[in-house]
Amino acid sequence: MSTRHENDVTTILERQANSVALRFITCGSVDDGKSTLIGRLLYECKAIFDDQLLSLESDSRQYGTQGEKLDFALLVDGLQAEREQGITIDVAYRFFSNKRRRFMVADTPGHEQYTRNMATGASTADLAVILIDARKGVLTQTRRHSRIVSMMGIRHVVLAVNKMDLVDYSEATFDAIVASYRSFAAELAFSNIQAIPLSGLEGDNVLQHSSRMPWYTGCSLMNHLDTVNVRGQRKSGPFRMPIQWVNRPNLDFRGFCGRVADGAIRVGDAVRVLPSGIQTQVKSIWAGCQEVQTAHIGDAVTLTLRKEVDASRGDVLVAPESAPEVADQFEVKLIWMSENNLVPGRPYILKLACKEVTATVTDIKYREDANTGAHLAAKTLALNEIAKVNLSACMPLVFEPYGVNRTLGGFILIDKLTFETVGAGMIRFALRRANNIHWQALEIDKFARAKQKFQTTRCIWFTGLSGSGKSTIANLLEKRLYAEGKHTYVLDGDNVRHGLNRDLGFTEVDRVENIRRVAEVARIMVDAGLIVLVSFISPFRSERRMARDLFSDGEFVEVFVDTPIEECESRDTKGLYAKARKGDLKNFTGIDSPYEQPDAPEVHLKTMGHSPEDCVELLLKTLN
Ligand code: ADX
Repeated sequence: MSTRHENDVTTILERQANSVALRFITCGSVDDGKSTLIGRLLYECKAIFDDQLLSLESDSRQYGTQGEKLDFALLVDGLQAEREQGITIDVAYRFFSNKRRRFMVADTPGHEQYTRNMATGASTADLAVILIDARKGVLTQTRRHSRIVSMMGIRHVVLAVNKMDLVDYSEATFDAIVASYRSFAAELAFSNIQAIPLSGLEGDNVLQHSSRMPWYTGCSLMNHLDTVNVRGQRKSGPFRMPIQWVNRPNLDFRGFCGRVADGAIRVGDAVRVLPSGIQTQVKSIWAGCQEVQTAHIGDAVTLTLRKEVDASRGDVLVAPESAPEVADQFEVKLIWMSENNLVPGRPYILKLACKEVTATVTDIKYREDANTGAHLAAKTLALNEIAKVNLSACMPLVFEPYGVNRTLGGFILIDKLTFETVGAGMIRFALRRANNIHWQALEIDKFARAKQKFQTTRCIWFTGLSGSGKSTIANLLEKRLYAEGKHTYVLDGDNVRHGLNRDLGFTEVDRVENIRRVAEVARIMVDAGLIVLVSFISPFRSERRMARDLFSDGEFVEVFVDTPIEECESRDTKGLYAKARKGDLKNFTGIDSPYEQPDAPEVHLKTMGHSPEDCVELLLKTLN
């Protein structure tokens, strides 16, 4: 690899190895000039390779907006295009260096998902360059990004007031923007805000101090990035290493691979495996194929242990004298990143370090206004909203508050069906009350209770549109089972909504809670040894999956009562379709609220042309 300006590879490599890396991110609105600025920094720092420069020259001629000059925005955009496929949440870094320092700038591609990528980048950065278009000043987006940056623990900010060339390099404009930003940022946790007037396009105050702004006596952007001291903020803590992978090439070798998230470890040191709590000592440390004596924060290593311990991906190796906590309920700060709103009670995949578990938001304490930070009441969260929420995981997690350790305190939420990353959050602390409730083991169990009734427990879950025939079929089936001497119970949507779920309506949030409650009740009834028939529209796949996950294999039977909406509407036994069509009934399933058909129900009942009795016969065949 050779750069156009400097061919001495060894010098470059030495320089990189000896300097301290500064990780930073850039944030701002879409056309604040981020690409141009980063492109220029890369160019000026001679971090562009020959081939990239050649294609930049030709691209600038072909597509550029800068006449004969190089269009730096094309450079960064071009580099982004390389990676645009298959990107989920991993943010790539662009590396460059000068004589003093190495730099890693988080590359946050895409426009719509900008906030999401920015939040991920921010979780490992030391400093944020917040770009402002001098013509526009501080915008809602600027405030939102600043809040995220502060929340993610970044303490150093550069307020890059860009496009100064378009405001005649006006000192008054710059001063007004800086004053407005400082007054907004006073409540955020920044220790240092460096405001710099610049033009990424013209190069003013990017590397060199610009003669076009003699009134500005501070340093250039590069100068500041070169000299800013961000190290003070990061102290190394006790040893922590989440296990990424267990390497077992043969019976004699069992290595635990991962990246040291905090502290250091030496051969012979005691370690504890969490959550199991087993303690042992480090037998050997491998960095690639090389055996080493120690490993430090940031190193990717494989450890072997003296004792045979049962540890797997997601477990954490820690220093025994100061082990982190293990809990399953937390208060967290959450940034919502999906077009689909957050729904409390809906199960998501929570990924913390290398661990993935199912988790739900149990309570939204408040949502923050992006501009003022005011606390607002909320039942749901929309794209880019930030909130304080309670979160419940289905099993205990090894964690530390985000302020103590970003790796063990930062997490993302992933949609269970689409695998889209929908949120990013930071753990503030564990809610202790959850840890004080223990599962009471009872001696008579589900199997004993079912055996006494000469039956196999089941949850038969009917889903389908209103008027599709769910209740009719459930009722007939119960009669047949009853006649056979089985112990059954029907949970019916309309009936349960008269009592237990009287407080719930038909919004998405309420329907999710409706299904969560009835699924829990069904589970208790199955535990009592019963055959439970649940007849709810249950329109969302996600919650039907949640219900299924509460039961043992084979116990949950999803029955899709498939009746076309036209047929349901023509029957309209309760007159609700007519009301919904007139607009007198809102959020009606199939009209202005969605019904997500089951993908693979155990039983698919196509009711057209079949009597309810036929359907019950088919069901009985499947059940036996
Ligand atoms: S669910 O969607 O949350 O599963 P559930 O089965 O409890 O719904 O209740 C559905 C019943 O409530 C319907 O059979 C109908 O009688 C009544 N209902 C009243 N309003 C609506 C509505 N907006 N959408 C659907 N059903 C409604």
